[in-house]
Amino acid sequence: MQVNNENEMNLFFDKLKQLEIGTVLDIATGRGEFIDFLKQSLGKVDKIIGIDTHERMLQIAKDTFPDAELEIMDAYHLDFPDNSMDMTSISNSLHHFTDPELVIKEMIRVTKPGGYFVVREMLGDADQTESQKSHILIHHLSAEVDRMAGRVHQETYSEVGLRNLLESIPTYEREYAVYDYPVSQEEMMRNTERYSQLIDAIVKPLTEISSSKELREKAESIKEHIIKHGFAPARTLFYLGRK
Ligand SMILES: C[S@@+](CC[C@H](N)C(=O)[O-])C[C@H]1O[C@@H](n2cnc3c(N)ncnc32)[C@H](O)[C@@H]1O
Repeated sequence: MQVNNENEMNLFFDKLKQLEIGTVLDIATGRGEFIDFLKQSLGKVDKIIGIDTHERMLQIAKDTFPDAELEIMDAYHLDFPDNSMDMTSISNSLHHFTDPELVIKEMIRVTKPGGYFVVREMLGDADQTESQKSHILIHHLSAEVDRMAGRVHQETYSEVGLRNLLESIPTYEREYAVYDYPVSQEEMMRNTERYSQLIDAIVKPLTEISSSKELREKAESIKEHIIKHGFAPARTLFYLGRK
C-alpha cells in the first residue's frame, strides 16, 4: 500500500524552505547525499560541515561538494563545543550505530538552543508495495553482509520504533512526515536494472566464506523479486525538531 501524504510532505518541505541556517552539521554524511538534500531544501544555508569515519566515502563527498567542510570524526565524540550549530542532521544512518541514543545526545549537545535537528531514515515496515520491498530486501541483505564482516549495520526501523526513539529527544517543537517517493515508469525500469546488478556486488566479497551459499541463494531470490516487482525507494520518515 502506498502512503499518499503529499500534503503532509509539502507542508514539511515548505517549513524547511522557510529556514535560514548559519551552520549545519551533517552526521555520518558518507558520500554527502544529505548535503545535496539540505542545499536544495533549506531556504538558505551559509556553511555545511559533514563528518564521517569512512575516509573513502568522505573523499567522494569532498570531490562532490568542494564548498562543504568535511572531516573524519566519530559521531559519538563530536569535536565541537556545546551549543555551536544552528542545525544538526542525520540521514539513513541511525541504524548504523549500536547506541543511536548516544549519537542523538551528542548531536543535541552541539545544537544551539532554538537550533534545529533533522532526521531522514528509511523505514522497514511490511505494509509497503512489492517494489518498495525490493529496497528493504536489498538493504537487509547488505546489512547482513556488513554484520558478517564485523560492521555495525542493523535492519532499518519500523515507523513506530523510529518515532519512539525520536520522541525521547528533549525538543520543544517537533514535526514528522512519512513519505513514499513517487516513481515514474522510467525510474522504476532504471532502478530495477541497477539494483538487480548491485545484488551481485553485495555478495561478491563473501564468495570465499563457506557459509555464503545460503546468502547467495537469498541474493538470487531477492534478484528475482526485483526483476518481477521492480524497485522503488522504501518509505521514509522525515523529522524536524527544535532544541
Ligand atoms: C548509509 S551511510 C549514510 C550516508 C548518508 N548520510 C546518506 O544519507 O545516504 C551510513 C554512514 O554512517 C557512517 N558511520 C558509521 N559509524 C560512524 C561513526 N561512529 N561516526 C561517524 N560516521 C559513522 C558510515 O561510515 C556511513 O558513511
